[in-house]
Amino acid sequence: MAIDYQERIPNNVDLAGNKTLQRALEHWQPRFLDWWREMGPSDFMASEVYLRTATSVDAKGWATYGALRMPDYRWGIFLADPVPDRRIGFGDEFGKPAWQQVPGEHRSTLRRLIVTQGDTEPASVEQQRLLGHSCPSLYDLRNLFQVNVEEGRHLWAMVYLLHAYFGRDGREEAEALLARHSGDADKPRILGTFNEPIGDWLSFFMFTYFTDRDGKFQLKSLAESGFDPLARTCQFMLTEEAHHMFVGDTGIARTVRRTLEVMKALGTEEPDRVRAAGAIDLPTIQKYLNFWFSSSLDLFGAEISSNAASYFGAGIKGRPDEANYADHLALEGTQTIAVPAGESDVGSEEVPLRNAMNEATRSAYIRDCEIGVKRWNRLIAKAGFAAELRLPSPRFRRSIGAWAGRSVDPSGTPIAAAEWQRRQAEWLPTAEDRAFVISLMQRVVEPGKVAAWIAPPDRGINNLPVEYEYVRLQ
Ligand SMILES: [Fe+2]
Ligand SMILES: [Fe+2]
Repeated sequence: MAIDYQERIPNNVDLAGNKTLQRALEHWQPRFLDWWREMGPSDFMASEVYLRTATSVDAKGWATYGALRMPDYRWGIFLADPVPDRRIGFGDEFGKPAWQQVPGEHRSTLRRLIVTQGDTEPASVEQQRLLGHSCPSLYDLRNLFQVNVEEGRHLWAMVYLLHAYFGRDGREEAEALLARHSGDADKPRILGTFNEPIGDWLSFFMFTYFTDRDGKFQLKSLAESGFDPLARTCQFMLTEEAHHMFVGDTGIARTVRRTLEVMKALGTEEPDRVRAAGAIDLPTIQKYLNFWFSSSLDLFGAEISSNAASYFGAGIKGRPDEANYADHLALEGTQTIAVPAGESDVGSEEVPLRNAMNEATRSAYIRDCEIGVKRWNRLIAKAGFAAELRLPSPRFRRSIGAWAGRSVDPSGTPIAAAEWQRRQAEWLPTAEDRAFVISLMQRVVEPGKVAAWIAPPDRGINNLPVEYEYVRLQ
């Protein structure tokens, strides 16, 4: 179904054909806009931003571009086209028709999953709301705002499901999604990573590389769901999500590239001298990477999880790219999971496959994360330096799962708590590192100019030149 832009809420779900639902969502819409004005990008509501807007759910040519003020963005409800006669692709219900309504017995589980996903979307907008003030270029500022408006749309995607399929509970949850706030002492966001402040652009690029990528894998798992409206919603969100990870990937690459230029010019890797020349030294980049990667790993949940097993068994949440697996029942066989053995060793446990579903998704995520790291390391090698960036072990600095609270070094070796205390400043950003990074965050808004700590992008947006005025500031 084509997207209807004549409606107050653009959609391809025939909202006009369900007046009750339409009215309920039109009632929620001004609350969303209030939230956007209050908690969205601070001070840029009057600026014209060159943004893409979804105009079709066809993967080719799905968006149009144009300059607009962010509060005028057409947030809407877009589901991927239905697959005729779609069947559940995994679990105990394998091969049965996908559900077009929520099965009663799965109602609370589905609601919780949708709320948890929905909560992350506005959370990231809140986390990033002050970043515009220290943007390294208009190009980057535009990318930040593109990510922000699309996270706002992802909130719409989840709120639609809550309103359309969960009755009064769903409407209450939709209200609560606007009432919790990132980092709020009384009403924080649900997941830890989404309460971490993002006060500088290196953190923003790490977040969009590592944390938005967690989003990609969660969406891929939910795109397999037996609950068809959820599957189709997530399918389309993935189309938008790709750009967010591109922003992270290229943002880190450009930061590294600038650092390498400075290292070459100085003829040294000495962090103090790199810093004095106004670039971010590689050890500091590694610490930020360690922080955001380990935090994002927690979002996949515990390595051994009976919840994950029951979601899979029930056909609610699958594995990313479920079609690539030969066995969709996962009733036989085990997976080996690394678990602590005593205080100082790494042991292993054989876990029934269904209980290891979180680990299957996390492993796929880690492989995906490696791709960017390899690319950044190629830049370093090409510049003639021996340094390497590395993903820390998945056992490092975990707060959830088998390794929660354990002292483990980045190579994955358990260490004494005292050693962790003594050495964590080598592995994670210190207050001083953060202060240094923040000291570089000077706002650059002249078209085509880029801050000194980051290299310019290779190309502009939508075939426009890098010098294009992507944001007209007001
Ligand atoms: Fe999102
Ligand atoms: Fe995203």
